[in-house]
Amino acid sequence: MCGIVGYVGPQSCADILVDGLRRLEYRGYDSAGLAVYDGKKVDVVRAVGKLQNLVKALKEHPLEGSLGIGHTRWATHGRPTEVNAHPHVAGNIALVHNGIIENHIELKRQLGEEGVKFVSDTDTEIVAHLIHRETQGGHDLVTAVRRALGFVHGAYAVAVIDQKQPDRIVVAKNASPLVVGFGEGEMFCASDIPAILPYTKLMLPLEEGEIAVLSATGFELTTLDGKPVDRKPRVITWNASQAEKGGYKHFMLKEIHEQPRAIEDTLRGRVDLAAGDVVESEIGVDAATAQLISRVYFIACGTSHHATLYGRFLMESIARVPATTELASEFIGREPVVGPNDLVVAVSQSGETLDTLAALKVAKEQGARVLAIANVIDSAIPRAAGSAFYTHAGPEIGVASTKCFTTQLAAMVLLAVFIGRRRGSVDKDRAGAILQALVELPHHMRTVLALDDIIRDLARPLSTAKSSLFLGRGVSYPVAAEGALKLKEISYIHAEGYAAGEMKHGPIALIDAEMPVIAIMPDDKSYDKIASNVQEAKAREGRVLAIATKGNADIGGIAHNTIYVPRVDATLSPFMTTLPLQLLSYYVADFKGTDVDQPRNLAKTVTVE
Ligand code: AGP
Repeated sequence: MCGIVGYVGPQSCADILVDGLRRLEYRGYDSAGLAVYDGKKVDVVRAVGKLQNLVKALKEHPLEGSLGIGHTRWATHGRPTEVNAHPHVAGNIALVHNGIIENHIELKRQLGEEGVKFVSDTDTEIVAHLIHRETQGGHDLVTAVRRALGFVHGAYAVAVIDQKQPDRIVVAKNASPLVVGFGEGEMFCASDIPAILPYTKLMLPLEEGEIAVLSATGFELTTLDGKPVDRKPRVITWNASQAEKGGYKHFMLKEIHEQPRAIEDTLRGRVDLAAGDVVESEIGVDAATAQLISRVYFIACGTSHHATLYGRFLMESIARVPATTELASEFIGREPVVGPNDLVVAVSQSGETLDTLAALKVAKEQGARVLAIANVIDSAIPRAAGSAFYTHAGPEIGVASTKCFTTQLAAMVLLAVFIGRRRGSVDKDRAGAILQALVELPHHMRTVLALDDIIRDLARPLSTAKSSLFLGRGVSYPVAAEGALKLKEISYIHAEGYAAGEMKHGPIALIDAEMPVIAIMPDDKSYDKIASNVQEAKAREGRVLAIATKGNADIGGIAHNTIYVPRVDATLSPFMTTLPLQLLSYYVADFKGTDVDQPRNLAKTVTVE
C-alpha cells in the first residue's frame, strides 16, 4: 500500500504534489519522491524516510514544472532505499506504482534477456521498462501503457509521464485504488481522495481495468482493451479527516473493512492452484528446511501471539510437524532449548517488538533456523532473521491490530501448506482444496463485513458490561483469545479469552446474569463439545452471544443471540469468526466513547521489554 499523486495544469506542481503526499502518508512512509517535467526533461528527487526528508531534498534540488507525479512508499519488494523509492525511470518514462506485480520474476528475467539493466530491487521498475520498450516501438504513451500492462499480472495503480509527450499523465488501475480530480484547466490523480481534496471536490474513482489520459485540456477514459467509458465525476462532500479515513469514523473501522483486500495482497503471487502448492520463492523458507526440521517454534506477543496459536494448530494438522508457541517475553525469561532442527518463527506486525526481537536473537544464538513473519518490510525482526515472509497488509494506523492479524493467519496457512507439501504430509488434492478455499475467503469476508449494522446493534448492550468471557475450542480458541484482547484494549471492559474446555476449571465461577459469554462455535468437530459448555454457561444465567455457521439450525435454541457467518473449509473458519468480534469490539468502544484508534496506555510499536 503506497500513495500516489499527480498533477497536470498551469501551476507549478511540486508543492501540490508534496501537499498531496502529506495527506497520503498514512498509506506508507518509508521513502518518497517526485518526478517533474521542467520544460526539457523529467527531473526526479527521492529521499528515504518520512516526507520531511523529501522536503529537505527539494530545498537543495527544487523541481520546477507543471506536470508531475509523486509517491510515498510502503515497501513490498526491495528495501526502503533511495534507489528503490519511486518514481522509477526508464528512458523517457517516469512512473509511480501502488500494488504488487505478481509475475515480476518472470518479467525481469525476460527484460534482462533483452538487455535491460535494472537499478532497483523493485517490481515497479519492471513496469517502467515495459512501457519504455513500447514507446521505443513507436506507440504513444497511452497505447504503450495499455500494451505494457497486458504483460503484467497483479495489483496496480500507476501514474506515468513521458518526457517526449509532456502534456499528459496516463493512469491505470487494477485492484489498487486511484481517483482522478477535475480542476479548471488542470487535472489531478491520487491513490485516495484526501490527497487532492483541497484542490477539487469533483472526482472520479477509476474502476478495475480502466486507463485514463489526463491533460490540462481534457480527460479520456477507456478500458484497458480500448473501449471508451462514459462515467461522470461526482462531488465529494467529505471533510479532510473523513476523507483520510475513507469516510469511516476511525482508522480501525476502515482497517477492519480493508481485510478482504489485505488478504488478497497477502496471497498475491504466492498460491499455485494448479499445482496445489505454495510458491517457494515468496515465503522465506526453502524446501530443504521444510524437510529437515523436526519442530516449528513460534514466538510473538499480543495479537501476533494469537495468530501463532492458529499457526500451531495448522502445523500439526496440515504439515504434521510438532509445533509449539511461546510468548516472546516468556521465551527469553526461561532457558529455552532450541537448535538446528527447529524452525523458530518470530511473528510481529511492526517487526520491531523488542521482546520478539530479543527472543529471535536467543533462538539464533542457539543455532535454530529462523524466519520472520512481519508486515513492515525491512524492520528489525526480519532484518535480524535474515529471511522473511511479509504479509503485505499495508500500514495499520489503529493501535488495535485487525488486518495485520488476519493476514498473519493467511501467512500461517501458506506456511503450513508449504511445509506439509514438502514433507508429503498433505497431498496435492487436500492442499489444493485448502488453497482454493483460501483464495475464496475475501469474498466470504465481504459477506461478514456486510453484517456491520447487525453487529452494531448487538454491541450496544455489551457496552455496559463490566466483564466478559470469550470461549472457543480447537481452531476457535485463538479467535476467542484475540476477541477478548480486542475488546479489552479498546473498550477497557475486562475480557477473558478461554479455551472452552477450561471453563469448568475456574472461569465458570464468574458467570452470572451480568456476564456476557461470547462463544465462537462454527460447524466443526468441536461444535458439540462447545455447545455443551455454552449450556453450562446458560445454566448459570450467562448471556450468550454465539458466532456460528450459517445454516446451523440448533444454535437458536442455545444462544440468546447469534451472528451467522458463511460456511468455509473448517480449517479456515477463524477468518470468518474473527471479523464479527473485531466489529463488536469496535462498536462497544465507540458506544463507550473511548479513543478507539489510540487507546490509553498502549502503543502501536512496543520497543521496551
Ligand atoms: C494488538 O491489537 C495489540 N495492540 C498488541 O497486542 C500487539 O499485537 C503486540 O504489541 C505485538 O505487536 P507486533 O505484532 O507488532 O509485534
